[in-house]
Amino acid sequence: MSFESSCDETSVAIIEDGNKILSNIVATQINSHKRFGGVVPEVASRHHIEEITICIGDAMKKANVTYDDLTAVAVTYGPGLVGALLIGVTAAKAVAWAHNLPLIPVNHIAGHISAAAFVKPIEYPALALVVSGGHTELVLMPEEGEFKIIGETRDDAAGEAYDKVGRVLGLSYPAGPVVDEMAADGKDTFNFPRAMEKDDNYDFSFSGLKSAFINTVHHADQVNETLDKNDLAASFQSAVVDVLVDKTLKALKEFPVKQLILAGGVAANKGLRNALENSIKQTELVKAPIKLCGDNAAMIGAAAYVLNKKHKYAGTELNADPSLEF
Ligand code: KG4
Ligand code: ZN
Repeated sequence: MSFESSCDETSVAIIEDGNKILSNIVATQINSHKRFGGVVPEVASRHHIEEITICIGDAMKKANVTYDDLTAVAVTYGPGLVGALLIGVTAAKAVAWAHNLPLIPVNHIAGHISAAAFVKPIEYPALALVVSGGHTELVLMPEEGEFKIIGETRDDAAGEAYDKVGRVLGLSYPAGPVVDEMAADGKDTFNFPRAMEKDDNYDFSFSGLKSAFINTVHHADQVNETLDKNDLAASFQSAVVDVLVDKTLKALKEFPVKQLILAGGVAANKGLRNALENSIKQTELVKAPIKLCGDNAAMIGAAAYVLNKKHKYAGTELNADPSLEF
């Protein structure tokens, strides 16, 4: 049984052999956070408390299992919102203790990457492009269970930038999926900046792009000019996708790997999926299934399967670690 509660989804899953989903219950809190334009940590914690036992029951019912069928309990213990993480960690500890099962602590980012295991077995060395609302990272995995961040965003995460520009377009949180759809009907006419694209590193920056977008919209408002929203979305998306693809190609030159994995909430983006499909020729591209790109407990179960083989267990002293690194 695996738990995920690092942000605004309460999720419990039952998986078998690390790659077969028996159930994956995801209770989303999006409607409660919409009116605030983003996730309110205290509201998130309260929802997790209300939902977690319901999710446990639903996951077991859907998978048709009893506690006797379980072999281990896994949980995201960081990074994320501390109050939110604590609910999953406490629930997982309780189930593990009550049923005498090993407790497996999982890093949320390792979880996102492990969503690829539901497509096919991960082969090493592998490189992962993890793009979400909280993270934008290139993670090198020389071997199973080894993670090295070779590049990351210096300011906003890509998903955060999507949500902020979406707000300026009048969209509600999370705006990423809608901006993605609008982009499909627009053209890249604004030529927004591609920050750090030519720099000699694997880092990203999206705050300058976000500001350029907001300034363009505000300036148009001031002079009563109407801009094509689909073109704005397409121009923003092209700028994001261009730098993500460019830096990934650059990393693949230095680190020849067997697979490139695309994961995280923004990995659901059609523009990004298509651009990588068209440009990655030197290695196998494994895209996390669209349904498993956002936060969910099945991906945490897949990551835990690897840790279980290595007996990487924790005791009841396990605590949430909001700024957990690999
Ligand atoms: O991984 P995730 O569910 O939560 C975090 O760990 O952050 O990612 C959520 C983020 C949000 O910012 C959302 O707007 C973005 O992923 N997102 C997308 C798309 N679907 C979700 N961004 C761009 N295009 C999409 N299709
Ligand atoms: Zn996430």
